[in-house]
Amino acid sequence: MTNAADNVVVDIRKLWTVFKNTDGEQVVHRNLDLHIERGEVLSLVGGSGTGKTVLLRQILGLQKPTKGVVEVLGQAPGELSAAGAANVGMLFQHGALFSAFSVLENIAFPLRELKLLPDDLIRHAALVKLQMVGLEPQHANKSPSDLSGGMIKRVALARALIMDPPLLLLDEPTAGLDPEASDSFCDLLRGLHRELGLTVVMVTHDLDTLFDLSTRIAVLADQQVIVSGTAREVIAYPHPFIHEYFLGGRGQRALEALHDKPAPRPEAARAEER
Ligand SMILES: Nc1ncnc2c1ncn2[C@@H]1O[C@H](COP(=O)(O)OP(=O)(O)OP(=O)(O)O)[C@@H](O)[C@H]1O
Ligand SMILES: [Mg+2]
Repeated sequence: MTNAADNVVVDIRKLWTVFKNTDGEQVVHRNLDLHIERGEVLSLVGGSGTGKTVLLRQILGLQKPTKGVVEVLGQAPGELSAAGAANVGMLFQHGALFSAFSVLENIAFPLRELKLLPDDLIRHAALVKLQMVGLEPQHANKSPSDLSGGMIKRVALARALIMDPPLLLLDEPTAGLDPEASDSFCDLLRGLHRELGLTVVMVTHDLDTLFDLSTRIAVLADQQVIVSGTAREVIAYPHPFIHEYFLGGRGQRALEALHDKPAPRPEAARAEER
């Protein structure tokens, strides 16, 4: 039997994030707790500036907590160490590709930086990832400026997956995409989550993406995770942000669409049923 603790991929306990700026101190996270289990697609929602991106950067190991614990698979995330990079892949909010590099060079970049593998193996690994995100090999040598917005997101996703990380972080994965490209990117993410058994932490303002992919939603407000659960559980929580965010016109439309399809669930839950 597996211990519940073995299934915890991200463990955040009593996290404080405080930035010092010219006006004094800014407390972004205050005693924040969040536990994410294997196979979940946990979506973080919260107003602008509530510290969603900062939280992802802390899970990735790019930023240190002021106080408290952030652990990924039982360890403090490596500060850009090879081990850390192999555990977590991230699609950045403004994650532009390197414009001077080809598509394939962009995807291969994290692997090449490690200087562990010969060039032909790196190239092969990058081509596999290109195919995995639904792009034809003919795009491999293109420059990022020759790609559509949806293709750029796919290449950035392939780069995030190059080390086969068990944990994938997505910061606004569908922002800036038209509805069709956004739906198609969600389909890709859903398929990869299922096939690769990934744990995903996603930040999104897009309610369609939120309801489409999340197995759990966590709401960031008042410097903490005020509630987490299914869409229905979260919406039932009385808080002005939740009311405004989910029960405005936009939220109502997305919720109506949600009623027409079954809610996604983590792989772990499905596996138990087998
Ligand atoms: N390195 C830093 N130094 C000082 N302040 C920072 C730093 N990084 C982030 N902040 C501040 O922390 C707050 C949270 O930023 P963050 O980028 O996490 O917000 P967010 O929730 O992702 O917002 P959005 O939805 O607009 O992307 C902001 O007020 C930001 O200015
Ligand atoms: Mg952000």
